[in-house]
Amino acid sequence: MGKLRLNGIIDRIRTLRDERDAVILAHYYVDGLVQDAADYVGDSYYLSRVAMESPHKVIVFAGVRFMAESAKILSPEKTVIMPDTSAGCPMAHMISEKDIMEVRNRHDDLSVVCYINSTAKIKALSDVCVTSSNAVKVISRISSRYILFVPDKNLGSYVAGFFPDKSFILIDGFCPTHNLITADAVRDLLSDHPEAKVLSHPECPREVLEISDYIGSTSGIIYEAAGSKNDTFIICTEEGVKHQLKKDNPSKTFLFPKSTPICPDMKKITLENLEDSMKNMRDPIEIDEELRQRALIPLLKMHEMAG
Ligand code: 13P
Ligand code: SF4
Repeated sequence: MGKLRLNGIIDRIRTLRDERDAVILAHYYVDGLVQDAADYVGDSYYLSRVAMESPHKVIVFAGVRFMAESAKILSPEKTVIMPDTSAGCPMAHMISEKDIMEVRNRHDDLSVVCYINSTAKIKALSDVCVTSSNAVKVISRISSRYILFVPDKNLGSYVAGFFPDKSFILIDGFCPTHNLITADAVRDLLSDHPEAKVLSHPECPREVLEISDYIGSTSGIIYEAAGSKNDTFIICTEEGVKHQLKKDNPSKTFLFPKSTPICPDMKKITLENLEDSMKNMRDPIEIDEELRQRALIPLLKMHEMAG
């Protein structure tokens, strides 16, 4: 996009934002141009907190549906819109209500912990929500012996390693983008760049995490790279984080595993649909009130326990 056209669309987005009394939130995986147009950019937990505490009437979520839905559950009085309402997280649909009820019926001393990457219906059946940045902290405050962790088996098995006294029950959910990152692809990069530090998101498979120097959320990875004395990093997460990594560390090198990890849903968000969604205030998120109240409990618990 040419500079003039880019400035024009950014100006129109800012004008619409002010007219609508809106705040624009963007996840690190969306296109860099959209990140630059946003008021806040962050990981899932940070954005959920910003949305909850925002004084604005409208929240524009440049991310995927579970993020916008969580904002609406926490702030029903606000209008929550998305630039492209078809942007979803496939992992959120890898668990059914029946799967949860079956495990609940089998164990008494059980807590259901759901990753925020889940539908409102799954949240409503859960005891507490977590994100990758607070899962260990939140679970450390749960006394139950059994933890049903849904839907991400990779994050679940990573977190389980911190709690040898608990029994984790995992299901077969995964992020299609992170799950494709292989330890061999990381080793290939390491053979050419033996000095590189490997920074990984816990949605990656266990074999990738085992050869990582740091494991954390998108924000965690960004802070780690900025604070490190190293110059070269192998980044095992969605390539959208490169935008912030390069802004913070222009002289450092960031390498991504072969067949660069890209989340097709996050990439549905563009400056054009961001502008259009605000112009037309189309398809605001609606959630049945009874469902919202049930899904609110685990989300509020996460904010209390992680705060
Ligand atoms: P975080 O930004 O919380 O690390 O989440 C990653 C993710 O996959 C969001 O969909
Ligand atoms: Fe879902 Fe993975 Fe895309 Fe995140 S990166 S929204 S977990 S598919």
